[in-house]
Amino acid sequence: MNNMDKIEVYYFSGTGNSLHGSQGLAKRLPNVSLLPIASLLKKDKVSALGAVVGFIFPVHLSTIPIFLKDFIKKVDLSSAEYIFAVATRIGTEHSAFFEIEKILRKKGKHLSSSFNLNMPSNDPKFNFTPAGGYEMKELEKEVERQLEVISRAIDNKEQLPIKDKNYLTRIPFVRLLSPLVTLLDGIQQNFYADDKCAGCGICKKVCLSGKIKMSEGRPIWQKEIKCFKCYACLNYCPNQAVQIKNFTEKKGRYSHPYASADEIARQKFDM
Ligand SMILES: Cc1cc2nc3c(=O)[nH]c(=O)nc-3n(C[C@H](O)[C@H](O)[C@H](O)COP(=O)(O)O)c2cc1C
Ligand code: SF4
Ligand code: SF4
Repeated sequence: MNNMDKIEVYYFSGTGNSLHGSQGLAKRLPNVSLLPIASLLKKDKVSALGAVVGFIFPVHLSTIPIFLKDFIKKVDLSSAEYIFAVATRIGTEHSAFFEIEKILRKKGKHLSSSFNLNMPSNDPKFNFTPAGGYEMKELEKEVERQLEVISRAIDNKEQLPIKDKNYLTRIPFVRLLSPLVTLLDGIQQNFYADDKCAGCGICKKVCLSGKIKMSEGRPIWQKEIKCFKCYACLNYCPNQAVQIKNFTEKKGRYSHPYASADEIARQKFDM
């Protein structure tokens, strides 16, 4: 197969929502290569080979995760004639697509199409009730429907301007959030493991930034290593022992029903 016929989808997923989205696209579109961003972060140079290139990722704090912005800056997109982005999110407005567009403009490219995929929250800090069985089923139907629409648009190489209908995206606050989030990116999340920790090492295994190491059977979040705020450690601990300050002790946890800890961890390795 000619590389130019490939659809390359670069994805990042902390708890499986964006992974499920990218697998959904791969099921529906021909010749899709799924490329885990976590396995490419340490490479000096990453070159896309296909004419169609996509990015799929979670929305964090109303924008694109900062390390993903750096990744998109790094990728050589010379081959790309059609670039799309899919943001998975709970449902808030965000500036992720504007941020990507800014990066692409500097490369002489533009975002051909962008899509939101509403999925359950993986952030137990605030107001969190993990999606139950019935809700998940209903949501899944909607996600499948959305994936059909998105795949068709990509297959037809539709040019879709970034949707900016909601008034929230027009007020400067949301657009100003991104520089603010960049500024705050280094702030520690104050993770710790409570007494329920059994020393199984799953939190270390799923940690996509390499921040967690095990010492004497307990996880340590190393200060000098950046956290991607993916919340994989928090959500995949089988004992719900990982906490952030006192925000999460009495909250449930969420990971996508089809995404195992092994699948999340596999993103760290070259495919
Ligand atoms: C630190 C953090 C911040 C988040 N901020 C937002 C947000 O601003 N808006 C939103 O709709 N969802 C937000 N979410 C929810 C995730 O975007 C959503 O659950 C996503 O689908 C998770 O995808 P993943 O499982 O592929 O990581 C946030 C999640 C985390 C962990
Ligand atoms: S996943 Fe949970 S139980 Fe296992 S080592 Fe980490 S904190 Fe401890
Ligand atoms: S420490 Fe937790 S939230 Fe941070 S990158 Fe690792 S798994 Fe993700």
